[in-house]
Amino acid sequence: MRAAVLKAHGGPERLAVESKEVPAPRAGHLLVRVAAAGLNFHDVIERRSGYPGRPAPPTGTGLEGAGEVIAVGPGVTEAKVGDQVAWAAVESSHAQYVEVPVADAIPVPGWLGAVDAAAVAAQGLTAHYLAFSLRSFAAGDTALVWAAAGGVGRLLTQFLAARGVRVIAATSSEVKAAVAREAGAERSVRYEDVPDAVRESTGGAGVDVVFDGIGAPTFDVSLGSVRRRGLLVVYGRAGGQVPPVDLFRLSGAGSVQLVRPRFIDFVATREELLFRSDELFAAIRSKDVTVRVEAVFSLEDIADAHRLLESRAAIGKVVILPWPDEE
Ligand SMILES: NC(=O)c1ccc[n+]([C@@H]2O[C@H](COP(=O)([O-])OP(=O)(O)OC[C@H]3O[C@@H](n4cnc5c(N)ncnc54)[C@H](OP(=O)(O)O)[C@@H]3O)[C@@H](O)[C@H]2O)c1
Repeated sequence: MRAAVLKAHGGPERLAVESKEVPAPRAGHLLVRVAAAGLNFHDVIERRSGYPGRPAPPTGTGLEGAGEVIAVGPGVTEAKVGDQVAWAAVESSHAQYVEVPVADAIPVPGWLGAVDAAAVAAQGLTAHYLAFSLRSFAAGDTALVWAAAGGVGRLLTQFLAARGVRVIAATSSEVKAAVAREAGAERSVRYEDVPDAVRESTGGAGVDVVFDGIGAPTFDVSLGSVRRRGLLVVYGRAGGQVPPVDLFRLSGAGSVQLVRPRFIDFVATREELLFRSDELFAAIRSKDVTVRVEAVFSLEDIADAHRLLESRAAIGKVVILPWPDEE
């Protein structure tokens, strides 16, 4: 099979696509023929520098995909050959075949195609836990969402807007601002206008919650935008890692709660993964949430897929097709 390999940390040129043995599924695992795989900003960070504690290159790449089960390992009873599954956190997913732990396999409903399933698994489940599992938000609550036309940001805006939350969307361009409004944001503003917009929209009180997936460049404005006893969620670092924070800044900002959540802690049990994916698929079915694919790349062109994602030009999902001739 063909599989992407990261040869060393650095630019997209450090990615290669190589021939490898198709794995035989171990106990508790499924062998899946990948129909589509998702590219995430996480993959870009892994490529550039990696996360603390992660194995050094050479390594496989990618965490997300969807496809058909073609073999099951010993002891597997929850899935069978022919099932369509998706996953959001399985190593080496940018490949023609992936060995998926059965506990991580999400059954894909018949009406959802593999490209859409792969496009929404990680960012959709993330948007779901951000919207529903950190605090209970009610209609009329106010939220500031940075990068609201980004992968997580757009889906999060849709989930919040469907619940009646008033979203102030921050984006870097007019095109992205229009996408955020289409996703349900009450208003969308450029980054430099965020403080004024928050003041105007909340009578100076600040928003109930800020969702910040950018990190270092936006953290200070995020903290200054939260109301007394509000919540600041720093879920990503597309713009860089937030430096260590003096805890007294949280009290000074009005006893603000700060959380830096991690995806795997919100799909920590099989029950939670299935409950969350059921709700995500229901939201797609009811059109509260829409899948948006920006571009589709052949696996052999994975370096170009990384270039597009990190250029900030993509609005929807970047999808990798390991078997491009079949499209
Ligand atoms: N904690 C979790 O559970 C979790 C789960 C999924 C993702 N994440 C993290 O959340 C972040 C966003 O993920 P995503 O999948 O939504 O990514 P994405 O689709 O690539 O969107 C990121 C957005 O960030 C904005 N941005 C601002 N500065 C940027 C920069 N220097 N480089 C690139 N983009 C920049 C861009 O929007 P504008 O052009 O409008 O600024 C871009 O669209 C990433 O750090 C990712 O690793 C965390």
